[in-house]
Amino acid sequence: MAELMAVIKGRRSIRKYQDKEVSAEQLNAVLEAVQWSPSWANTQCWEVVVIQDPAVKQALQETLAKGNPATKAVVDAPVLLAMCGKLESSGYYNNQVTTKFGDWFLFDLGLATQSLCLAAHNQGLGTVVVGLFDHDKAKSVLQVPAGYEVVALLPLGYPAKESSPPKRREISEFTHREKF
Ligand SMILES: Cc1cc2nc3c(=O)[nH]c(=O)nc-3n(C[C@H](O)[C@H](O)[C@H](O)COP(=O)(O)O)c2cc1C
Repeated sequence: MAELMAVIKGRRSIRKYQDKEVSAEQLNAVLEAVQWSPSWANTQCWEVVVIQDPAVKQALQETLAKGNPATKAVVDAPVLLAMCGKLESSGYYNNQVTTKFGDWFLFDLGLATQSLCLAAHNQGLGTVVVGLFDHDKAKSVLQVPAGYEVVALLPLGYPAKESSPPKRREISEFTHREKF
């Protein structure tokens, strides 16, 4: 338990990477963390595109919103992962939405992404979740078929420097007892 908390608390968003390869075994280990993530009725609506070609990384970099602090990370990290989700499966039963929130693909992708980030950190690798980009342009760069969306981009590699944790809200500030 202590080790798990150290991994959870020690993971940081990494935006500067060393010029050092990620091995096939390491990549497999982070993908295994996705494989074992929970999802709505075990829908497993995730699809992951592994990008190592500099030209594709650059094309994806161009989809980032101006001033996005992860802009350099997208091309500098040795591996860039595109976390994609299948639409109209998570949160659905017999093709009908089951809750007021409709499609739960973003929720499932969030869980899978956090599993991946923790597994990466556990191996000494850094990641940063990149959500602020033109999702349609990225979809076209990666030739993602209709019925799927690119949810997040994730640079993956060895961190070039330690970063200090941004401040967190106190537990007492977000915890409610019995009623909100
Ligand atoms: C859904 C989501 C989208 C994010 N998008 C971006 C992004 O586009 N660019 C970026 O630099 N960081 C992005 N982040 C990283 C957050 O800024 C970061 O997680 C937060 O500041 C807390 O820092 P920590 O991850 O080091 O604990 C995103 C994080 C999440 C969860």
